[in-house]
Amino acid sequence: MIKHLSRIICASAAIVLLLTSCGSRAKYAYEDAAPSLCEAYKDWFRVGAAINSWDIEDPNSENCRTILKQFNVLTMENESKPENLHPEEDRYYFDKFDSFVDFCENNGIRARGHTLLWHSQVPDWFFHDGAGDASAELVLQRIRDHVTTIVTRYKGRVDTWDVVNEVIGDDSSLRFSEWLRLVGDYDGDGDDYDYIETAFIAAHEADPDARLIINDYSLETSSNKAIRMYKAVRKMLEDGVPIDGVGFQMHIGNGIDYDAMKDNFEIIASLRDIKPDFVIEVTELDVNCYPWGEAPADVEITGPFLKQFSETYTSVFRLMKELSEEGLLDSVVMWGLHDGVSWLNNGHRNYPMLIDRGLELKDAFYDVIDEARVRGQK
Ligand code: GLA
Repeated sequence: MIKHLSRIICASAAIVLLLTSCGSRAKYAYEDAAPSLCEAYKDWFRVGAAINSWDIEDPNSENCRTILKQFNVLTMENESKPENLHPEEDRYYFDKFDSFVDFCENNGIRARGHTLLWHSQVPDWFFHDGAGDASAELVLQRIRDHVTTIVTRYKGRVDTWDVVNEVIGDDSSLRFSEWLRLVGDYDGDGDDYDYIETAFIAAHEADPDARLIINDYSLETSSNKAIRMYKAVRKMLEDGVPIDGVGFQMHIGNGIDYDAMKDNFEIIASLRDIKPDFVIEVTELDVNCYPWGEAPADVEITGPFLKQFSETYTSVFRLMKELSEEGLLDSVVMWGLHDGVSWLNNGHRNYPMLIDRGLELKDAFYDVIDEARVRGQK
């Protein structure tokens, strides 16, 4: 009888223990009791997200509390792009970005400026002169004015600028954008980097302390693209262009080849041979749950799928710790606050972030937090 009773007591104790340990795991990203990504990784790098102005309007909103709890570096998803900041040649719209920069400053958050030049989300006026094409001189002058006006306004307050975005194409050649078509090899030195160089030089003159980044996608998976980026940046550094680092956007799929990813980061890291304090940033991390291109019916979120999702995120964070320990990286930004607002919900429900559409913390979030507890791996 006593033996029987003690078994019941032990079993009940185990159940209580189990319930307590389940209950001790916070559910929502904004809860005081929730672990914090930026706190967990503070010995390695800042952790951030792309957000929108409405996320930070009300400091008591769940979105804003999530931001303040989880992140210490922020990017605006769209509101600091050329089409929004500078839609007409003689008019700038700074209000949203001003508020964003104030918010970052008041909360000890690193502000990123994204992006000064891009082939997309850019107004047409940059490229026209009346009914015809603008001359190379005119485009270069407009680039100087645009970059100088914006970077000067935020001097000392925006820490990092994505000066140019996506200048290498899918075929790994320099993207044939309107910038490239109209400016070309203006200085006749045999390369076509002139519009990029002009933007970096103007940004550096406007704020010599800002970190200036060249940002692109697929660098982690395509070694052709990484090598092309390496060659372009090497040539520009040798010509004295003030580029401080390469941004890896990292819009990746579910499942990543760790060794290939590491090799591609090393290609870019070797720019340190030319500029010893050259850096790498992760600027737009998310994990697409669908194959790129055509979307099939909604993906089935099964156990193995979730395990792979978690492993994808943890392996990225593991590699970023290694790069940080080599002094190469101090910032990892995710592209969105939660699943519900991700750009990847295009035509189907997607699940690319560590925080779900109800701001609940996923198992992958907790696995990434656990990864921060693993130390001394080198
Ligand atoms: C690119 C851009 C970002 C954003 C994403 C997804 O990666 O750099 O600004 O537009 O695409 O939309």
